[in-house]
Amino acid sequence: MAFDVARVRAAYPALGEGFVHFDGAGGTQTAAAVVEAVAGAMRAATGNRSTAFLPGRRALDLVAGARAAVADLLGAQPSGVVLGPSATALTYTLARTLGAGWRPGDEVVVSRLDHDANVRPWVQAAQSSGATVRWAEFDPATGELPAGQYADLVTERTRLVAVTA
Ligand SMILES: Cc1ncc(COP(=O)(O)O)c(C=O)c1O
Repeated sequence: MAFDVARVRAAYPALGEGFVHFDGAGGTQTAAAVVEAVAGAMRAATGNRSTAFLPGRRALDLVAGARAAVADLLGAQPSGVVLGPSATALTYTLARTLGAGWRPGDEVVVSRLDHDANVRPWVQAAQSSGATVRWAEFDPATGELPAGQYADLVTERTRLVAVTA
């Protein structure tokens, strides 16, 4: 079945303005169905997530539904989906938490192919703990991250490998 470009474009009102968008992550445009769902959620009474009262239950259901939808999209488990303010903010939170257990001599592996959101939090956590940062290089000719190099980069001292799937 051919990918119906016109139908997909039509789902995104902002694309009707005629701009060309090159940044698929930071410059994400929003589908009309999402705009409507967010507006609907914000029009309804919600509160802190709680089973004790209706607005709280609505908030619980909204978050559970969003996690289930993302898991469905990615073929993942809802319990493995974390929602937050941004990829960078979430990664900083995780890096601070994991980095608190690192010691000098520990190693973390980051890549030169990744967006800074998945590099700088780990580098700074390593600096704070005295861990060593090791870099995976990408092949400028292909734009790929050769997997073979990880055989050398990952050692018994490795505490974390950060690479975007
Ligand atoms: C490829 C890529 N990854 C990650 C990010 C970081 O995302 P966030 O703005 O949610 O921290 C961006 C932001 O533009 C991006 O373009």
